[in-house]
Amino acid sequence: MVRYDRRALLQFLATSPALAACLPFSKSSGAERPLASPADALDVFELKDVAQGLVPPAHWGYLQSGVDGDATLHANLAAYSRYELRPRRFVDVSHVDLATSVFGVRLASPVFFCPIGALRAFHPEGEIAVARAARAHGTLQIVSTQMSYAIEDIAAARAGALWYQLYTTDRFEATRKLVKRAQAAGCPVVAVTVDLPAGRNTETAARLRRADTRDCSACHMVDAHGNPRLSLASEPMFQGIDTRGLRLTSPSLTWDFIKRLKDATTMKVIIKGIESQEDAALAVEHGADGLIVSNHGGRATESGRATLESLPAVVRGVAGRIPALMDGGVRRGTDVYKALALGASAVGIGRPYAWGLGAFGQAGVERVAQILDVELRLAMVGCGARSVREISAASIIDRGPGDHA
Ligand SMILES: Cc1cc2nc3c(=O)[nH]c(=O)nc-3n(C[C@H](O)[C@H](O)[C@H](O)COP(=O)(O)O)c2cc1C
Repeated sequence: MVRYDRRALLQFLATSPALAACLPFSKSSGAERPLASPADALDVFELKDVAQGLVPPAHWGYLQSGVDGDATLHANLAAYSRYELRPRRFVDVSHVDLATSVFGVRLASPVFFCPIGALRAFHPEGEIAVARAARAHGTLQIVSTQMSYAIEDIAAARAGALWYQLYTTDRFEATRKLVKRAQAAGCPVVAVTVDLPAGRNTETAARLRRADTRDCSACHMVDAHGNPRLSLASEPMFQGIDTRGLRLTSPSLTWDFIKRLKDATTMKVIIKGIESQEDAALAVEHGADGLIVSNHGGRATESGRATLESLPAVVRGVAGRIPALMDGGVRRGTDVYKALALGASAVGIGRPYAWGLGAFGQAGVERVAQILDVELRLAMVGCGARSVREISAASIIDRGPGDHA
């Protein structure tokens, strides 16, 4: 309760001109005034500032953290500066269409919402608010196994393109139940995350937790009865599953798992967390219907390698046989444009929509999607690309590896 009273107070202050100047908002804009509404946000970073002022430090650390020294997280961001856009002139760009389709389903934009666990940590409406925003904007949403609301409720709020992100667990009977439930809730696609076989070192999160003395049971760590959530057993997706000794992931999985998963569901199976040409080719060989080039937003292996750097090799490995989506470090429409030019079928965002959520709930998430689409449209106009299909390798210039920051 403490946290949401604070949220209400800060939002009230934000609309009061006399008090507004005292608030720590809009740092990145350099503006004196905080944002009174999501429509005022000029870019996703302004929503980040607002969210940081509202979200408790431990939750903020959970959101922002990479692993070890956050090198991969920073690499994800920096990689976009290796490429330049290639403007073209005298192309009739009076009609520019951002729509795309994946598995034959039309999406209003190539930008999608990646799975993020426990979204109630950033706003009381969590995944439900994101689903409503995705519905309003026509955005694909992938919901995490570690969601904070029941998948059936999220599916009802999205009423459309909702995919399920699966953690494999280390016991297939539990995995089967998760998958069956997601399928019954109407998800057409399961994205199985494979980049976290056994643990990680989220140092930034741990550091920020030290600075936060709040009792988490007052916000996201409670079940429907107000009881603290202490284990998988109390997470919505694990209701009715024997969670004794169960782990979310397993270090012993091999490629056979994909066939096993495919045999257990009618959903399309895509693999999230592919980063090399060999694994892309193996994914196709083992029957994957698609994949996502991802390093978990720099939260898995501290490889130091950006997903944008891995994308061309993965696209070569796939060789047009299945769609290759990507995520990691996307903060501008021009980033989306560059990823599309390098062969991504769709481009995911994680932290940016969580900033929108933390700042203004559903309206903040919608604003993030809107900002990125506006920026992408402007890039397309400037480069003479009238549709997502017209964005190709010839749409960008590669300055080659090196420090371009
Ligand atoms: C706080 C947080 C929680 C996440 N939880 C999950 C998850 O439950 N499952 C998953 O596959 N990926 C998870 N991810 C990774 C995202 O799906 C995505 O790959 C990543 O956020 C993209 O990078 P970006 O944040 O730079 O846009 C999480 C990311 C963050 C920041």
